[in-house]
Amino acid sequence: MATAVKRIGVLTGGGDCPGLNPVIRAVVRRSVAEGIEVVGIMNGWKGLIEAQTMPLNLTSVSGIIHRGGTILGTSRTNPYKKPEQVTALKASVKRLGLDALIAIGGEDTLGVAVKLVNEGVSIVGVPKTIDNDLSGTDYTFGFDTAVNIAMEAIDRLHTTAESHHRIMVVEVMGRHAGWIALHAGLAGGADVILIPEFPIDVEEVCGAIRKRHERGKLFSIVVVAEGAEFKPGQTVTQSQAQLDDFGHVRLGGIGQRMAELIEKKTGFETRVTVLGHVQRGGSPTAFDRVLGTRFGVKAVELVLAREFGKMVSLQGNRIVSVSIAEATGKLKTVDMEMYQLAQLFFG
Ligand code: F6P
Repeated sequence: MATAVKRIGVLTGGGDCPGLNPVIRAVVRRSVAEGIEVVGIMNGWKGLIEAQTMPLNLTSVSGIIHRGGTILGTSRTNPYKKPEQVTALKASVKRLGLDALIAIGGEDTLGVAVKLVNEGVSIVGVPKTIDNDLSGTDYTFGFDTAVNIAMEAIDRLHTTAESHHRIMVVEVMGRHAGWIALHAGLAGGADVILIPEFPIDVEEVCGAIRKRHERGKLFSIVVVAEGAEFKPGQTVTQSQAQLDDFGHVRLGGIGQRMAELIEKKTGFETRVTVLGHVQRGGSPTAFDRVLGTRFGVKAVELVLAREFGKMVSLQGNRIVSVSIAEATGKLKTVDMEMYQLAQLFFG
């Protein structure tokens, strides 16, 4: 018979995002109510390899629901880059006396979780990413906050664009999927939205801007996701040389490239704004606080039910569980139908 869960670890991995602290708080509150001790693993998988921990209790999670980032710290460490790191990680789980782990992360962190579950480590996953590109869940927390930050920026850019009769290009995050660009662009009334799922047609973009000029609109807002490409497989990067542990290049520069092309082809004065990590910082929205809280509570319930290898997920308005392997097996990208809806408002 399986032994009762007495002590669990919780970690946050990958890029931070608003809503992580509400999840940590909910995990601790729900665990304490069940008499389970919670150990905070610092800095993602790196912290587990090195057994860096901090105690988590009712006091340490008090007053954090509104705080952005993660009180545990994070890293993009991939233990599977070196076999000795996996050995050290498993030794830490044993030494720290952890009966189970709750891993809060995106495709990379949860991809590691899948491999560890296959090697016998008891893990429950919580999906996190501002990019909203994880399958198996309708939304990840952090996305709503990022969209609202980008929408507010677009609102502000509108007024200055209009005063100066300029084209404003706004570069937002979104490595493989254009969810942030699409939602912030729709909500902000953008005139063109460019996303990684569909190659950029510069002539079409300029055509939409010219069309606006013809009907007296002398300014335009173009929202572009950082992962948008002119041709499939040709992302614009800050550095091809700097790869993270999971092999990702550092994206950035598509906004500048688009601004130059638009100005050259249309003759209209164009400026670029790169929102960058502003989208990942600061206080989570109410939606993300509530979603994070529901995810945290459900994660502890999955641990109690010993449903390891599962991830909490939002489906409709219900919190359910899905297989982590399935959720990380395929990215959730924007489909044609959704993009066609946005296109109705271009130009
Ligand atoms: O977490 C995903 C993401 O927000 C991507 O959209 C972006 O490319 C990446 O993080 C940048 O992360 P960092 O600069 O922290 O490595």
